[in-house]
Amino acid sequence: MRFFKGIIKKYIPYFSDFINNNHYLKLVSKRIGYENKNNPEELLYKFIKNSPKVYIDCTESKKLLEVIREKSNKVFFVNKNNHLFKVASNISDNLLETTSTKFLEQEIYRFVVNPLECIPEVLELVLTESFQKIFAKIKLLKLANVHLRLSSPNHFEKHTTGFHRDYNSFTTLKIFIPLTENNDEHFLEYFSSSLLKSTSNLHYRPRHLPLKSLKKKYRNLTSDKVGDNDMLFPIVSTNCIHREIPSKTKKITLILTFLAHPDYGTFRPILNKKNLNSFEKIKSHDFLSLIKFKD
Ligand SMILES: [Fe+2]
Repeated sequence: MRFFKGIIKKYIPYFSDFINNNHYLKLVSKRIGYENKNNPEELLYKFIKNSPKVYIDCTESKKLLEVIREKSNKVFFVNKNNHLFKVASNISDNLLETTSTKFLEQEIYRFVVNPLECIPEVLELVLTESFQKIFAKIKLLKLANVHLRLSSPNHFEKHTTGFHRDYNSFTTLKIFIPLTENNDEHFLEYFSSSLLKSTSNLHYRPRHLPLKSLKKKYRNLTSDKVGDNDMLFPIVSTNCIHREIPSKTKKITLILTFLAHPDYGTFRPILNKKNLNSFEKIKSHDFLSLIKFKD
């Protein structure tokens, strides 16, 4: 059986992704511009197409960002409460789990499992005016995931440092908030012209490609880059071809995902009720309705 799988993989490298692809296609509309005007994917597509550069200005939330910055540094470098990390390294295709702050061999990045456990303040941040005035324009979008990542100096094109599309649905919007002070490095590069226009052509590509394997039409383009500004965060559609730029330094980045449905169809960020003071306000907010509250 394994032998046949190997042969299939060799000649049809994306064969094993077909099941996931079908799952993906179920989540999205068949084609943009379809008759149904309330189709969330169509509305999101128009939003990103008509306003390709939308920035969230967090100057008003300096203090809150400071708290988030401090707490995220503590979790990665002290980890007193033994939070679980998942670690991507160049020597393994799988993510490794650890609670240790010691760096693994050829580590590329690590992230905290259930980051709202250590920084529930992220929910306060996304309810500030700077976020809400943007998302009021597109009410379908909700906070679908919170990812807290520590990138390590590396030069590898593996895991998310290889080019790929996020395949969550037709439109996945993210913002990247640098949490390392005086960070002057970009976090992400992407090709905005690679924005998907139709789901009728198979485009599911979860495998990460090295730069040299990218089609020439993208390799020859200059990529857009984000993640070096401390207060101003552009919204990026990560269905465009993109990658995390291999980091030159140790840097922490908070990645917020906005979708009209749970991440990957079913995932929900977990928040422990004891972690939140203004819990009632947060609980009743539609923008946070994908969060799962735990006693
Ligand atoms: Fe991605």
